[in-house]
Amino acid sequence: MGMSDSLTQKIRNDFDLIALHDREGWDHNNHYHHFLLKQLPAQCKTALDIGCGTGEFSRLLAKRVEKVFAIDLSPNMIEVAKQRSRMFSNIDFQVADVLHWEPIVEQFDLIVSIATLHHLPVESLLPNLKATLKPGGRLVILDLLEHENLRDQVSDFVAIPLNWLFQVLNNKHLQQSPEAAAAMREHLRTDHYLTLSQAQRIYTSSLRRAKVRKHLFWRYSVVWEKSAAA
Ligand SMILES: C[S@@+](CC[C@H](N)C(=O)[O-])C[C@H]1O[C@@H](n2cnc3c(N)ncnc32)[C@H](O)[C@@H]1O
Repeated sequence: MGMSDSLTQKIRNDFDLIALHDREGWDHNNHYHHFLLKQLPAQCKTALDIGCGTGEFSRLLAKRVEKVFAIDLSPNMIEVAKQRSRMFSNIDFQVADVLHWEPIVEQFDLIVSIATLHHLPVESLLPNLKATLKPGGRLVILDLLEHENLRDQVSDFVAIPLNWLFQVLNNKHLQQSPEAAAAMREHLRTDHYLTLSQAQRIYTSSLRRAKVRKHLFWRYSVVWEKSAAA
């Protein structure tokens, strides 16, 4: 078994366990759902959600898009996503590793991925994602960010108290079990993130005119539109 196979297996095991303890509530990813929804292309019939987890964003998409394909490496995540999405007949949830997934050329108006790409070799994945988008389609990414400079540390002076406030306001009724905390700790042990300059370099070198932005709660976003003439 190669290095990357064993890492993929660890990621799958980590998220299988995290899925069992998932509680719905405010977090640093869904805080940006509204922003991400604003990035949808005007014509958006088909969307792909990569690393959909429990499917919270897939369900938001399904209210706006005819057909949503949502894939995740973790069978337990997909199981929870299906349970929570019984009201939606237009979401196709599949257990799949995006790295071994056979893309169809020009299939999607939108490809979205939230808090997932740090698990993947972005540079080798992007050409496939570009090919799978229809001309005029959009790639919309939100992912975790590593600190790199004083500006990041200064923004913590705002982010840390605001994070505490949002947690108290939104999640005070949610009790995180010791098992949930342990599952997350184990996962974070092997998690690595890009800095903003690394993200800017990687994304803008493959995606002309991609907009790479830093967000307060330790996240960056990328929005890129495939040329309609492509
Ligand atoms: C931090 S979770 C984010 C889930 C969801 N997007 C959200 O915002 O709540 C990352 C997800 O990516 C999935 N994932 C990791 N590597 C993957 C891969 N190679 N292919 C598909 N999904 C993957 C994990 O199983 C996990 O559910």
